[in-house]
Amino acid sequence: MIQTIRGTKDILPGEISEWHFLEEVFKRITSQFGYKEIRTPVLEFTEVFSRGIGEGTDIVGKEMYSFNTKDEKKPESVTMRPEMTASVVRSVTQHSLLHHQPTLRLWYCAPFFRYENPQKGRQRQFHQFGAECIGSPNPESDAEVVILAATVLKEIGITDYTLAINSLGNKTSREKYRTELISFLKGKFDELSEDSQNRLEKNPLRVLDSKDAKDKAATKDAPSILDFLDEESETYFKNVQEILKESDVEFTVNPRLVRGLDYYNHTVFEFLTTKLGSQDALGGGGRYDPLFAQLGGKETPAVGFALGIERLLLLREQNNVQAEALKPDIFIIGDGSAKKIQKLALQIRQKNLYVLTDLLRKSFKAQMKESNKLGTRYTIIFGQQEEEKGIAIIKNMETGVQTEYPLKEIADFQF
Ligand code: HAM
Repeated sequence: MIQTIRGTKDILPGEISEWHFLEEVFKRITSQFGYKEIRTPVLEFTEVFSRGIGEGTDIVGKEMYSFNTKDEKKPESVTMRPEMTASVVRSVTQHSLLHHQPTLRLWYCAPFFRYENPQKGRQRQFHQFGAECIGSPNPESDAEVVILAATVLKEIGITDYTLAINSLGNKTSREKYRTELISFLKGKFDELSEDSQNRLEKNPLRVLDSKDAKDKAATKDAPSILDFLDEESETYFKNVQEILKESDVEFTVNPRLVRGLDYYNHTVFEFLTTKLGSQDALGGGGRYDPLFAQLGGKETPAVGFALGIERLLLLREQNNVQAEALKPDIFIIGDGSAKKIQKLALQIRQKNLYVLTDLLRKSFKAQMKESNKLGTRYTIIFGQQEEEKGIAIIKNMETGVQTEYPLKEIADFQF
C-alpha cells in the first residue's frame, strides 16, 4: 500500500471535530480583535524566505522544500512556505494594502512545510494559526498580539504553559550586543558544539538558545542582551510589559530567548509547555520591523505570532479535553420507499437540521441500534406500514416517547 510521506499526516474524520473547534475559536477571537483572514499561495519564490527569514537560519539553511520549476529556458527556484510572516509581508507590499489604511490586522490558519526530523509534535507538514499586526511602531501592538494569542489559548482550554518574553532591542543595541557576544563566544570556541562554532559569526544570538548541553555550559555566563538595550529599547520593552501586566497576562523575562528567525527586533516571545517533551514551544513571535525593507518594500513596523496547531491538539489530548463530534438531529429508519425517505430528509434539512438516512437497507433493529449509537435526538420510523397509512412515527430518543404524525406535517414538527 502507498503510505503518506514521512512527517506528513492525514487528518481523519475522527479527528476533524477538534480541528473545527479550534478553527471556530480562531475565527471568533480574531474577529473580536478586528483581525481579517489572509490566504496566500503555498508556493512562493525562494527569495521570499531566504531574504526574509535569513540565510543563516536552520529553516533556510536546512529545512526548506525548494525546487526549480520545469521551465527549461529560465527555471525558477520556488519553495513550499515554511512559515507565513514573509509571505504576508510579500503580499501586503505587492498589493499596497497599507496604502488606504495605516494599520492592518491579519490572521491565518494554514499548512506549512519544513524538512525537519519528525517526532512527537514535529512534522514536515504542520499547521499554524497566526496573526500579524502591521503598521504600528508602538508597544501596544506588541502587547495586543500577545494578548490575542493568550486569549485564544485560554479559549481552547490550554492554561498549562508559560510565556517567556525578551527584547532584542533596536538595531544599535543589537549590534553592540552582537559584537560583545561574538567576542565572548570566541573565548569559549573550543567548548562549543560544532553547530554553534559554525554559527558564531553568522548568527551568534542563536548559540544562546542551543539545546546542546555543551553550549549551555559554555554560554552560562554570556553577556545579557538586556544590559545592552539603549534607553529607547528599554522604555519600549518596559511599556510592553506594563500593558501585559495590566491585562493579567503572566510572563517571565528570559534574556536568552532569541528565536530562530532573523527578522526580529525589540519584543520576542514564546509560549512554552513542559508537557510535550523536547518540542516545548506551543508558539512564538515578535516584532519584525526590518522585514519589509529586507523584502524590497517600504520600511514598515510590524509584529505577530504563530501557534503550532498539532502541538495545541496534542496538549488537549493529553489533558483529556476533546471537542464532541456533531450528533444527528434526526435519523429516518424503516423500510418505507427510498424516494419518500429521501424527500422527507430533504424537507427537514431545510430547517437547518442534521438528518441521516440508512443507505444499506439494514434491518429495522440494526437501523434503530445505529440511531441510538450515534446519539440522535429524534428517530423517525417510516416503514411500509406507516407509508400505507400516510404517517410516520417520531421517537424522542431521550424520553422514549413515540408520536404518530401525518407524513405531510412532519417537516413542521418542532424538533
Ligand atoms: P516559529 O517559531 O518558527 O515562528 O513557529 C511557530 C510555531 O509553529 C512553533 O512554536 C511550533 O509550535 C510550530 N512549529 C514550527 N515548526 C513545526 C514543525 N515542524 N512541526 C510542528 N509544529 C511546528 C514562525 O513561524 C513565525 N512566522 C512566527 C511569527 C509570526 N513571528 C512573527 N509573526
